[in-house]
Amino acid sequence: MNLTLKTGEIHAIMGPNGTGKSTLSETIMGNPSYHITEADILLNGESIIEMSVDERARKGLFLAMQYPAEVPGVTNAEFLRAAINARRPKNNPILIMDF
Ligand SMILES: Nc1ncnc2c1ncn2[C@@H]1O[C@H](COP(=O)(O)OP(=O)(O)O)[C@@H](O)[C@H]1O
Ligand SMILES: [Mg+2]
Repeated sequence: MNLTLKTGEIHAIMGPNGTGKSTLSETIMGNPSYHITEADILLNGESIIEMSVDERARKGLFLAMQYPAEVPGVTNAEFLRAAINARRPKNNPILIMDF
């Protein structure tokens, strides 16, 4: 099968427990526990399957945590803002109000 997700669209992948939703997400994000034996993942036409997790993240992929671990002193908002700023030029962080 093929799955195409276009920029700006929102999709929900639904199914019973144990049918592979998390596995698919982790594989797209690049969890090294998973090995693709066949097929490819293209982001804007470019294959990402040889890229490290941080390379994929800088190209715009983000995998939210299902059960986030608490890091004392780091709020969710600060975490998300840091993720956005990691993709922006160092001298042009997102303004607090815009965030
Ligand atoms: N494409 C696949 N090929 C082989 N095993 C898979 C595949 N996708 C998922 N699995 C296995 O199925 C089990 C359940 O998958 P999981 O991703 O946790 O399901 P879900 O998130 O939908 O509940 C895991 O043991 C996973 O390794
Ligand atoms: Mg799951």
